[in-house]
Amino acid sequence: KLFEFLDEPGRQRMMDLAQRQVFPAGTRVVAEGEPGDSFFVILRGSVKVSVDDFGQEKQVATLGPGSFFGEIAVITAQPRSASVTAAAELELLRFDKVPVLDVLKAYPRVKELLAKMGVRRSEDTLEKMMDLGQERVLGIEAGLNLLHRRHSLEKPRWWPPARWAPSPRSSRNSMPCG
Ligand code: CMP
Repeated sequence: KLFEFLDEPGRQRMMDLAQRQVFPAGTRVVAEGEPGDSFFVILRGSVKVSVDDFGQEKQVATLGPGSFFGEIAVITAQPRSASVTAAAELELLRFDKVPVLDVLKAYPRVKELLAKMGVRRSEDTLEKMMDLGQERVLGIEAGLNLLHRRHSLEKPRWWPPARWAPSPRSSRNSMPCG
């Protein structure tokens, strides 16, 4: 689907970079915490996306043919945010970071799309990791700060919620009275 946002020359350039790889079920293709210099498109089979949750492996997603993964490390230069394991025999296209980013210079919309998808997935992972106990320890604000620092993004415009902003009364009080 990502390729739909490229024109024909762009698609051709990407296909020239693609390396086809086949892995048996159970192969860990990407390991959480490791540096990442490629991203992948699934041609056949499926993968399990999981994160280490205080020593316990927690599955956060399953991805199948047509989906991609590994974009977060490629776009943000951060370590892999999750582990990705072949759930069945897996056929992938692998794209190396440096040449891909070079192609995407000409397609900023596609790069933006990848970045947005990465943020959405990170938020999703964080939500799934945050059961009530951890939520209390970490705090939603701390979690969001972490997330947005990780992706060097501004905080979303809806944060903090308006009802947490200083009330009109207190701001009136701090205004000079004229
Ligand atoms: P990256 O951090 O490079 O390596 C692990 C990949 O797993 C990550 O990029 C995403 O592509 C993918 N990933 C992480 N969290 C999720 C999620 N919640 N849903 C789907 N894919 C995810």
